[in-house]
Amino acid sequence: MREPRLTRRHLLTGGAVTAAAGALAACSAGTAADAPSARASAAETRIPTGTTVEPFHGEHQAGVATLPQTYAAFVAFDLKRGVDREAMGRMMRLLTDDARRLTAGNGALADTEPHLAEFPARLTITFGFGPGLFEKAGLEKQRPPSVKQLPKFPIDRLEDRWSGGDLLIQICSDDAVTLAHALRMTVKDARSFGTVRWIQRGFRRPPHVQEPSLTQRNLMGQLDGTVNPRPGTPEFDKAVWVSDGPEWFRGGTTLVLRRIRMELETWDKVDPVAREFTIGRRLSDGAPLTGNAEHDEPDFDKKTPAGLPVIGEYAHIRRAHVADPAMRIFRRTYNYDDGLSADGVADSGLLFASYQADVERQFLPIQRRLAEGDLLNDWTTPIGSAVFAIPPGCREGGWIGETLLG
Ligand code: HEM
Repeated sequence: MREPRLTRRHLLTGGAVTAAAGALAACSAGTAADAPSARASAAETRIPTGTTVEPFHGEHQAGVATLPQTYAAFVAFDLKRGVDREAMGRMMRLLTDDARRLTAGNGALADTEPHLAEFPARLTITFGFGPGLFEKAGLEKQRPPSVKQLPKFPIDRLEDRWSGGDLLIQICSDDAVTLAHALRMTVKDARSFGTVRWIQRGFRRPPHVQEPSLTQRNLMGQLDGTVNPRPGTPEFDKAVWVSDGPEWFRGGTTLVLRRIRMELETWDKVDPVAREFTIGRRLSDGAPLTGNAEHDEPDFDKKTPAGLPVIGEYAHIRRAHVADPAMRIFRRTYNYDDGLSADGVADSGLLFASYQADVERQFLPIQRRLAEGDLLNDWTTPIGSAVFAIPPGCREGGWIGETLLG
């Protein structure tokens, strides 16, 4: 993230929030003894502003290692018949140009409302290629083998309207207005080549509400994201970025996007002890049931006086745990909350976005274990599933996908 420049406009439009938020964070560090997730020192607090720019060019596409922004939209397209490799190249040149301009805070080409782009608020626009794109481009041989629809799991209740897709545009920003504009501009250009298959929108707590480096809570109330590769570490690079296989894909990654509904009505009826046992961590501070603080290592061998495991055999963290940090998945999840049924039941859950170098090697073994047995399954239902290759980034003057389609 580029350091925000301090200008007069900054102070008027959000830069001034930094100092106030720093003071607030320092204050909460001293007083919120029962809510350690809200603790942060003033030194840790660096609140981005409306003019903060995430660099577009680079070895990898932005929007993966980027600290998650407040809002996300994932849009998938089915490419139209007759859109061949050459047309896909034109499409990606156009979309890259949009992304390059918009993420820098400029209007897209022929933008009728360029002023709507002036606060990128860490806008990133990330592109993904679904299995169908390779087939339609006649490039089936270049498809990374694990970029295909996942096998069906017994827990799945997948709906077509949230699954599949040839092309993905992932747009993230700390500002919902900017996101809406970027979405409109990119979709307008993609529309000549494909039809919208689905759109999924998600949100997290904004950086001025919770210090960005702290673990956030999901809508079930759990601290979610504790054990996750940290961007900037060798483990992250190994777990996330592709370094072998097809040449064109080096520096890319894969995305598995699962839409997982939360059954909050029945979850509400579960007592706190059972809720904690389901995950294997405390609700108050996310500490493992065998530890004292969020980042303590769980002790999976520890037994109760009665000889039972403290972290249950089917607790989510036991089933999901991967010992080798370089083989982990990178979870960059968003909440969704899509309104209420006629009788007032919430339609909410998680946009479970998992990035990894290889779906087969990293994601699938975890998903298989969870599908076979995970206490959480009683309150969560996968209703959407899609897999995309996220091509490497591009240099100035280049375009996303050029190593495949160029
Ligand atoms: C709505 C569905 C889900 C919820 C609410 C959920 C929630 C959680 C929570 C609260 C934790 C503990 C804190 C943490 O380390 O983040 C956790 C850990 C984890 N979850 Fe999930 N999760 C869900 C689905 C999944 C799925 C589908 C996968 C993978 C296929 C997954 C993989 C993981 C992994 C790898 C960990 C870290 C395990 C470790 O301690 O090593 N989760 N999840």
